[in-house]
Amino acid sequence: MSGIDIETIKKQIDSEIEGINSSQGLEEFRVRYLGRKGIIAQLTGSIPTSPVEERGRFGQQVNNLKNKIILLVEEKQKSLNIKTDKATTQVDISLPGIAQDLGRLHPITQITDEICAIFSKMGFSVVEGPEIETEYNNFTGLNIPLEHPSRDVFDTFYLKSKDRLLLRSHTSPVQIRVMKSRKPPLAVIVPGRVYRPDAVDASHSFMFHQIEGFMVDEDIRFSDLKGVLEVFAKGVFGQNIKMRFRPHFFPFTEPSAEVDISCIICKGKGCSVCTKKGWLEILGAGMIHPNVFRNVGYNPKKYTGFAFGMGVERIAMLKYAIDDIRLFFENDLRFLKQF
Ligand code: PHE
Repeated sequence: MSGIDIETIKKQIDSEIEGINSSQGLEEFRVRYLGRKGIIAQLTGSIPTSPVEERGRFGQQVNNLKNKIILLVEEKQKSLNIKTDKATTQVDISLPGIAQDLGRLHPITQITDEICAIFSKMGFSVVEGPEIETEYNNFTGLNIPLEHPSRDVFDTFYLKSKDRLLLRSHTSPVQIRVMKSRKPPLAVIVPGRVYRPDAVDASHSFMFHQIEGFMVDEDIRFSDLKGVLEVFAKGVFGQNIKMRFRPHFFPFTEPSAEVDISCIICKGKGCSVCTKKGWLEILGAGMIHPNVFRNVGYNPKKYTGFAFGMGVERIAMLKYAIDDIRLFFENDLRFLKQF
């Protein structure tokens, strides 16, 4: 091959590259010119046999041609790629849209809000307290004596601190906090997390939620407690439910009661949810113990009050017939999306 061919090839290349419009066509072009047995390889191979006086210039020309082709292939590659990119990002308006999932509140948050709203309408204000508490607020101030089993380290998560701080085992310590910092009349509702070192099973969790409520003023009576709880229970479970108070013991209330509602599944006839009893326990309650008033500096001769505490998971499980508390904490969207 001689130098004359190179000019012809150059022209040929320009028109050929013009006509290429697929990466397959470009690859064929590349192989034809730059491949191992391609035109450039043939030209290069002929350099040693070309006339000595032309050899230098000829070699140079072949090299230039090779670089030009490499450049052309690269440019073409780019322009072809841009075209393919454009094709894929073009909007196909006939395709169905990608649905965006909307976030929602966790069922425990929903039921907490619902319960707080019922009490707010009756004039209660919502107060929150810290999850890390003092032993005094969680126990002593609430008239829970030292030898009481719930003070045992096995029933409470104690923190490694000099001052015996703990993860509150109920929301009742907020009674102490509020009563110490405010004066009656008080009507307060306290939602929040509590912790107990229970082994996790279908009805136990080391962390769960409670709602505490209390009212303090001159002349607050047990009948006020009954009236308020009835509005609450009917608001959550429906107007047709019945309520009953069973005598119970809490160190911080006297008298104390456990409150049941008629089983919402069998309407009191007896089923597996109420274990044939016809009643479901929903909370603990009572008249605030005079010792608690003394501990916060209230005169028990002047003030009376009631308090109650309920487990939010339990209320939600009864309302929605959920049989395993762990469902609330596993973050399985198939469960959560139902609320
Ligand atoms: N704090 C009690 C508990 O966790 C519930 C309760 C609150 C009972 C207020 C009476 C009055 O079991």
